[in-house]
Amino acid sequence: MFDEIANRYDFLNHTLSCFQDILWRRNCCRELRRMHPGKRLLDLCGGTGDFAVTYEKFNGKPDVAVLGDFSYGMLKGSAGKKMSAAPVQLDAMKMPFADGSFDVILNGFGMRNLPDAEAGLKESARVLDEGGFLQVLEFFSPRGTFNKFFYKRLAPLFIPVLGAFFSKRDAYEYLVNSVLRFLPVDEFVALAEKNGFELVHVKPCFWGVAFRVLLRRKPKAAGSVK
Ligand SMILES: C[S@@+](CC[C@H](N)C(=O)[O-])C[C@H]1O[C@@H](n2cnc3c(N)ncnc32)[C@H](O)[C@@H]1O
Repeated sequence: MFDEIANRYDFLNHTLSCFQDILWRRNCCRELRRMHPGKRLLDLCGGTGDFAVTYEKFNGKPDVAVLGDFSYGMLKGSAGKKMSAAPVQLDAMKMPFADGSFDVILNGFGMRNLPDAEAGLKESARVLDEGGFLQVLEFFSPRGTFNKFFYKRLAPLFIPVLGAFFSKRDAYEYLVNSVLRFLPVDEFVALAEKNGFELVHVKPCFWGVAFRVLLRRKPKAAGSVK
């Protein structure tokens, strides 16, 4: 599915979010700068690489930078962007990296797309070094009245229509449904805490349409990941 929408992905991402996604990624990267993380970066489920590009803008060139994604088409969409991350086709639930290989993992709108978010969290905990950061930017299952109204009533009216016009209707119907099927943010945080992370903070974006969830890898002995 992502291969099929790759050529219009960035354009629709910005259009459907009224360019808010750019701001959200910037805020994530600014937050990470304040944490003084190490210099090995993985942009996981990184698609066309916008998160890695933004990260480099705010945090300088990493020593090691990988853009990891399942979809060859999405990775191809990163060609020509100003970043040093090397594209690697991979499965976020079973990565070809040694334990503790990275200091920062970015995951923008990827967790919701994994068949097993817990497996993705466990695997992220494995490849992160102790004290490393996982920055998740995601649309979580809506809880409040405004967000329920937005995702259940408004979004199904306009997102698939714009998707059909510029790209593929199915993919944008899937987007709305995948949000409704995903975990609410508090349950996601609990799952992360069960799988080797401690919470740094949760910040709503645009009144909770999306959330930035910053997690830190616990020392291995204290984590529950084997
Ligand atoms: C909504 S896009 C997000 C792209 C980018 N991170 C962004 O911020 O715009 C979700 C990405 O997750 C990738 N993905 C889905 N399942 C995956 C998996 N099991 N392993 C790695 N990437 C996966 C898709 O190929 C897609 O590029």
